[in-house]
Amino acid sequence: MTQEARGSAGPSSTGAVPGAKTLPYAKRVTGLVGSVIDSSTSLLHKQTHDIVRFAMGSPAAEAVPSAILAGIAADELSRADAYDYAATEGDPPLHEALLETLRGTSDETTADRLTITAGGMQGLDLFCKLFVDPGDLVVVESPTYTNGSATALSYGAQLLEAPVDADGMIVDNLEQLLDGRRPKAIYTIPTFQNPSGATLSLERRQRLLELARSWGSMVIDDDPYALLRFAGDPLPTIRELGAGDPLVFAVRTFSKIVAPGLRVGWVDTDPELQPLLINAKQAMDTCTNLPAQRLLTGFLRGGHLEDHLVTQRAEYRRRKEAMHAALQEHFGDIARWTDPEGGFFLWVTLENGVNTAELFEIALAEGVAFIPGTAFSPTGRFTDALRLCFASTKPDRIHEGVARLRRAVDKLA
Ligand SMILES: Cc1ncc(COP(=O)(O)O)c(C=O)c1O
Repeated sequence: MTQEARGSAGPSSTGAVPGAKTLPYAKRVTGLVGSVIDSSTSLLHKQTHDIVRFAMGSPAAEAVPSAILAGIAADELSRADAYDYAATEGDPPLHEALLETLRGTSDETTADRLTITAGGMQGLDLFCKLFVDPGDLVVVESPTYTNGSATALSYGAQLLEAPVDADGMIVDNLEQLLDGRRPKAIYTIPTFQNPSGATLSLERRQRLLELARSWGSMVIDDDPYALLRFAGDPLPTIRELGAGDPLVFAVRTFSKIVAPGLRVGWVDTDPELQPLLINAKQAMDTCTNLPAQRLLTGFLRGGHLEDHLVTQRAEYRRRKEAMHAALQEHFGDIARWTDPEGGFFLWVTLENGVNTAELFEIALAEGVAFIPGTAFSPTGRFTDALRLCFASTKPDRIHEGVARLRRAVDKLA
């Protein structure tokens, strides 16, 4: 049995259209499902009591290189030209610095393939704008990144959820799930997946490409966490395995490796797409924020990224281990959880029948926030699961937060 969603809101998303009876909305408005994750940011900002925040996928506040960025700002942002419109495809100095930074990595690329975007989200939106017509079938992982599936739904896509295990999307099931249909696109988060933390194995990456080629389907290779590996061996990105295949549309971002508030990312695509991406972006935001691009140019040119990543990886490993230890202590009898080798997230499945959407309010009152599992399925699967971000919380607070979560579970149960 496959489950599909078309323009349907998840159970706790903001899908309602206020005033829909009186205003002449476009049809696509019914597909705007919003994001439980982003709504939880607003909700948390309004709370005044102490909360351990495992909800958002933000880098640790203390890991944001604010002092280095302030130094770069003093120099780069003191000139008026840093506040002008930028080239739509990206500020040329950032293009250059990024190409240099990526040289020799799995994401090495060329200028004609690179378009700077307003974060990874704009990369996903641009993809859908260019490729997704209402009714098009898009395969998403199950669970998947809420905002990615919400973007596809906002363009009228029909989503097909493909289950994920410890090795990422179960690619071998795809043909059976599709039952003779050809998807327009397959959306994967191959490394330290949001939300499960799973990594798509090399064999599955290769098989996914093979299948996509046989169907003529686009592959959205959304890989924001690959550089945050703290255990195991690196894998080639799908972009690299694709070797320039026009079917691969790679979405990348500085949000997780530097800072999300900068809102800068990039897409790496077949050169044929660049003029279309530029047209689409000009009709959307003209250009990506120039001061933020200049800050990142200074950061890359100054050679800060590699040192920064080394520190981040070590810290995130410590935090994941702290979360594992805390889960073992407080949830060993009633849950199981994943063991990511990098990235930000753990996926916990409760085995005592507790519904994690119902748990949310009680946990918030108890002083801990997480994202309920249903947020990661367009058809509301995973009522027994939750996503925890270990990256943004220090180890002692992680212990406190997990203890609070257990108290909340006991209250609800
Ligand atoms: C898989 C994935 N893709 C895209 C994004 C969005 O990135 P950005 O904040 O750069 O828009 C995120 C952020 O959580 C993510 O986890």
